[in-house]
Amino acid sequence: MKAILCTYHGIPETLTYSDIDDPVLEEKEVLIQVKACAVNFPDVLLIQDKYQFKPPLPFSPGGEVSGVIEKVGSGVKHLKEGQRVLALCGWGGFAEKVKVTSDRVFPIPPQMDYMTAASTLYTFGTAYHALKDRAKIQSGETLLVLGASGGVGLAAVELGKVLGATVIAAASTAEKLAVCKEKGADHLINYESEDLKERIKILTDGKGVDVVLDVVGGKYAEPSLRGMAWKGRYLVVGFAAGDIPKLPFNLALLKGCDVMGIFWGRFSTEEPKQNQQNIMDLVGMIQSGKIRQHIHKVYSLEESPQALRDMMDRKVVGKAMVVVEGKEASPSTGSGTKQCEMRISSIKMQISRAMKRNLPKWAKEFIEVWKI
Ligand SMILES: NC(=O)c1ccc[n+]([C@@H]2O[C@H](COP(=O)([O-])OP(=O)(O)OC[C@H]3O[C@@H](n4cnc5c(N)ncnc54)[C@H](OP(=O)(O)O)[C@@H]3O)[C@@H](O)[C@H]2O)c1
Repeated sequence: MKAILCTYHGIPETLTYSDIDDPVLEEKEVLIQVKACAVNFPDVLLIQDKYQFKPPLPFSPGGEVSGVIEKVGSGVKHLKEGQRVLALCGWGGFAEKVKVTSDRVFPIPPQMDYMTAASTLYTFGTAYHALKDRAKIQSGETLLVLGASGGVGLAAVELGKVLGATVIAAASTAEKLAVCKEKGADHLINYESEDLKERIKILTDGKGVDVVLDVVGGKYAEPSLRGMAWKGRYLVVGFAAGDIPKLPFNLALLKGCDVMGIFWGRFSTEEPKQNQQNIMDLVGMIQSGKIRQHIHKVYSLEESPQALRDMMDRKVVGKAMVVVEGKEASPSTGSGTKQCEMRISSIKMQISRAMKRNLPKWAKEFIEVWKI
């Protein structure tokens, strides 16, 4: 099979597009034919050996995939060949096939396309866990999102609005902030050209923000902590800027605030039931149109090192995706969205016409399963 390989740690340009053997399946694993794979920041860190997990070399990056099950291990009872699934593989997803432990594989609803399935959990899952389970954000509270146009950031902007917060989006360019505005942000701060702490003060009438969701770290952390309201919650999610900030503890005392670590991957294994519930909530929000992934660009498998390069260079807005087989996995992107919506509406019209005639049993079942 074809795969992008990291044979030694380094920058995306050192990755190779290679022919390798299919993975050998263990008892509790399933083999997935990959249709789509999300590009996430940990992929950039993994190939440079800067992440907390250290896959043995050689490996393929790509931690979040969707696709079709090709084979199941002898010890797997709840999944079957041919099933459409998403999987949290950690790495191995930039390939035609990936093997994944069965408890990290989830069936996807028939209405959900592969692109949506592969791009939801890391970003929306993390942001939802942070805002709902950790900050327990309340309607009417103010949320500041740092790195607001990135994968997790944009998900937090959208979910912040769904949860009833006033959202302040902070990012580095006017173009990125424009996308945050489209996703519902109430206020915008360009943290490269404006004084972050002063702008927070002005936008909140001196009260400060109730919740900060920080995926960036670096130089933006301290002014954000200084701009917090009494009993605020500072959510430490990531350090995209590279520098892990060191904060003066007296600020937490003065603000009576909580500094909370967010580790969605660990949460998903430590609290699987709560995580399942969150996933169901998110699927519901996707199906009702409350949230929708913003796809920046779709790359082929061969082009996936470029996707990592674009992410490192802060060029990605929302999500970059790798599609492994043709473009069928991508009905929710750019102009394809319109075509897909038109196709769905045409199918619905045809079915509604057919409903007026006598339908065979199989067709009625089809309509029932697809909820159309
Ligand atoms: N704790 C968890 O459970 C968890 C889960 C998922 C992700 N994460 C972490 O969260 C962080 C963000 O992930 P993501 O997928 O949202 O990444 P992303 O899409 O690349 O977004 C990161 C944002 O950070 C900003 N940024 C500032 N300095 C940067 C730099 N030197 N390089 C790259 N970006 C920089 C960029 O926006 P501007 O250009 O506007 O500044 C960018 O939009 C990563 O550190 C990731 O490891 C943590």
